[in-house]
Amino acid sequence: MKKLRIGMLGTGFMARTHSNAYRRVNNFFNLAYEPELTAVCARNPATLKAFADQWGYASTETDWRKLVERDDIDVIDICLPNNLHAPVACAAAAAGKMVFTEKPLARETGEATAMCEAVEKAGVANMVWYNYRRVPAVTLAKQLVDEGRLGRIFHYRANFLQDWTISPDCPQGGNGTWRLDVATAGSGVTGDLLAHCIDTAIWINGPITAVTAMTETFIKERKNLDTGTVEKVGIDDACAFLARFKNGSLAIFESTRYARGHKALYTFEINGENASIAWDLHDLHRLQYFDHDDNSLIRGWHNIHVTDGDQPYMDKWWVPGLQIGYEHSFVHQAADAFEALAKGENPTPSFRDALETTKVCDAVLKSAATGQWVNL
Ligand SMILES: NC(=O)c1ccc[n+]([C@@H]2O[C@H](COP(=O)([O-])OP(=O)(O)OC[C@H]3O[C@@H](n4cnc5c(N)ncnc54)[C@H](O)[C@@H]3O)[C@@H](O)[C@H]2O)c1
Repeated sequence: MKKLRIGMLGTGFMARTHSNAYRRVNNFFNLAYEPELTAVCARNPATLKAFADQWGYASTETDWRKLVERDDIDVIDICLPNNLHAPVACAAAAAGKMVFTEKPLARETGEATAMCEAVEKAGVANMVWYNYRRVPAVTLAKQLVDEGRLGRIFHYRANFLQDWTISPDCPQGGNGTWRLDVATAGSGVTGDLLAHCIDTAIWINGPITAVTAMTETFIKERKNLDTGTVEKVGIDDACAFLARFKNGSLAIFESTRYARGHKALYTFEINGENASIAWDLHDLHRLQYFDHDDNSLIRGWHNIHVTDGDQPYMDKWWVPGLQIGYEHSFVHQAADAFEALAKGENPTPSFRDALETTKVCDAVLKSAATGQWVNL
């Protein structure tokens, strides 16, 4: 089996999900590649050492530039705040490394385009961790749409709702709250949460051609933990937008961090001429499916428990009826990436695929600022 030596950047939430995926993927999938946890990089030596010990990384670095230059690394995996995706990815590509990065690809289209050009010029494999594509029920939703079961699609509806920034005392900047600082994050819920909804939507329903949006920043000033001063808030706290798809369908998307009671409610529904599909992250192993061709006596919403060996990825896990969870989407993405590499293909979504989502995010923010429809 061929080793892929991983250089992990970050020791936070996503560094844990990816490390878990690398450790488990070969136990469940037969692959030509096996990841090796060669090095991990973050700035705080104490937490870095603890992370390396807990997950089994062989070595540590506190400067990302050193990690990127090391000869014993094949894949640079970026689990850092959004402002670091572009500089690290471009340096890693120039050093001839494969580059996997967390979403969003970058803070905005200019940075994202430079990243695409860097990996393409260097000819290195690249991938963005839009992991929801690899939740079996979501993969099944795409399969049903691709098979034409829904017929002509009329509507796409998606939400991503949270409630963790309602307090005016919640700071911006710093370790846990960099998402509220526009310089680091690029945008608020649009790049952080709607990026997931947009990626899934484009993957399942095709390109988005036009958007009209509204955003709001409910709390105008917050203390910045990096500077210690109270500063204007530059991110969008909430965003709602309408969209048109190339296939003629209409969409409505909403995201907020002010929906009291909701922690991470990602839902989508697709309505077609013959059938509809609905999915909910809080019940991620189920797909709701309505087929108008069903006999009218029993016609209704099917509540599909996606655990059967015929359903996406599930032959790799337990027996039918026993479900899997959130972390498995990352295991699946790692498995798919290594299978693609073994075939000499680039993993998906590539940087170029993910650039489309960044373009839609930018169009949404532009529309909200101008009050106009924006065409893509
Ligand atoms: N796919 C998903 O569902 C999902 C979920 C959460 C986050 N994300 C994305 O993952 C990325 C990381 O988010 P997170 O939640 O893991 O963040 P986090 O705050 O939990 O972790 C960030 C890590 O980066 C490290 N770091 C910051 N600056 C650094 C520097 N200059 N050099 C080295 N290390 C540095 C921090 O020490 C920390 O370990 C973001 O781009 C975010 O959008 C994706």
